[in-house]
Amino acid sequence: MSSTQPGMWLNLFQAAQSTSLPLRAQLCTALREAIRSGAVPYPARLPASRTLAADLGISRVTVEAAYGQLEAEGYLTRRVGQGSFVAARFARPVEAEQPLRGSQLAALSQRGHQLVRGGGCRDPRTPLAFAAGSPDLRAFPHDTWRQLCNQRLRRDAATLAAYGDPQGYAPLRAAIAAYLQQARDVRAGAEQVLVLTSSQQALHLLGSLLLDEGDVVWLEEPGYRGARTALAAAGARLVAVPVDGEGMCPGDDLPPPRLIYLTPSHQYPSGCALSLTRRLALLEIARKHGSWIIEDDYDSEFHYDGRPLPAMQGLDRHERVIYLGTFSKALFPSLRLAYAVLPPALVEPACTVRTIYDGHGSQLMQAVTADFIARGHFAAHLRYMRQLYRSRRALLIEELDAKLPHLLRVQPSPGGLQLLVELPPGSEAHLTRQAQALGVATPSLRSLYLAEPGRDGWLLGFAALSAEEIRLGVRQLQVLRI
Ligand SMILES: Cc1ncc(COP(=O)(O)O)c(C=O)c1O
Repeated sequence: MSSTQPGMWLNLFQAAQSTSLPLRAQLCTALREAIRSGAVPYPARLPASRTLAADLGISRVTVEAAYGQLEAEGYLTRRVGQGSFVAARFARPVEAEQPLRGSQLAALSQRGHQLVRGGGCRDPRTPLAFAAGSPDLRAFPHDTWRQLCNQRLRRDAATLAAYGDPQGYAPLRAAIAAYLQQARDVRAGAEQVLVLTSSQQALHLLGSLLLDEGDVVWLEEPGYRGARTALAAAGARLVAVPVDGEGMCPGDDLPPPRLIYLTPSHQYPSGCALSLTRRLALLEIARKHGSWIIEDDYDSEFHYDGRPLPAMQGLDRHERVIYLGTFSKALFPSLRLAYAVLPPALVEPACTVRTIYDGHGSQLMQAVTADFIARGHFAAHLRYMRQLYRSRRALLIEELDAKLPHLLRVQPSPGGLQLLVELPPGSEAHLTRQAQALGVATPSLRSLYLAEPGRDGWLLGFAALSAEEIRLGVRQLQVLRI
């Protein structure tokens, strides 16, 4: 039995390919990077040399030579009759906070110390079953994208190579505003759109701009770690507000918030929608206390059972809501494009802070994205991907229900790129360790709780996986024991 996904090895190998190096050296580079980055975590077993050679279309002798070299370098431990394993020196805690050693501690500020201890929020670098949040990049229309890039470079290379507008490339801002008005009922003109590199950058920027040390921020419990880390970095006092079937449910005894972070159309991770009653109640709280609301609409493009509820921003009559969207899932993550729709009073201050960060995003990529939207490719791509992801989600549910009913219970949800499953109380850490040893990623539900001990579960990413990879991943999990 191979301990990891064939598609993943091919991707890693292709990423390291270079015509100037022999195949053995290319394979060594790919394996070192996979082990160092944690894409193949300790104590995963690597595929048998025969299997890997067949998957990659290279000779077994080459794979044997690469494994031998990596053993000598200390990356692998090889055991006769058992196989090749990631060496113990690459062990790292599961989703754990990173402890600091004395010398590192001394070199950092208090803020730096706190940031690093939070563990950051890394995304998976390769589509590994069942890493959460990756879109399928194999299904992206790369040829169309290349043509649009070439056209832009032929026409506007010099202009696009210059410094750009910190607020974002104007035609892209106009295309985003038009899309959001039509698809999400957001009330926005291009002049309110700020183009950024990611929602993560938006959260960090808004934290710096809007929060003072100790300001109260309400967060959904459980909720998105990216928001938690970014707002904690700004010195916020985080208050975990429970989520029920209608979304965030604040009690009367909470300290008034300076900022509320919400995922209203598809709560992360539970998948529920924030009900209209709650939306109106939270907007009223924001009006009363002069609080800001961040509406993170991170995956509204991927709802499979009808349209999601319109954005909360469209209900806001007091200019309290800041709407966030990203192209990381709808197009591809390394594009590094996301956007905020700001209340008019925040546009100028936010653009100024953007100049302190990184000035502006890549003009070429913004121009190509604007063309991709304006020529109808974006709408067509979303239609296609919705269908693809819908069928993958159905397959994963079917496989889990059929093969792992003793282990987990699927939580239905109308959309998203990952599926929430509940595990028996107290079993998450133990089952996660077993899955990790097989090279299967099972993102933790418990780690998404700020204050409570939390429920046991996994958030299984399916969107980037072919039907065969989904079946293989579930088959691998069948050996897990509670
Ligand atoms: C709730 C939520 N917001 C934002 C993002 C990511 O957006 P970006 O890649 O633009 O930072 C994610 C990614 O998984 C997410 O789950």
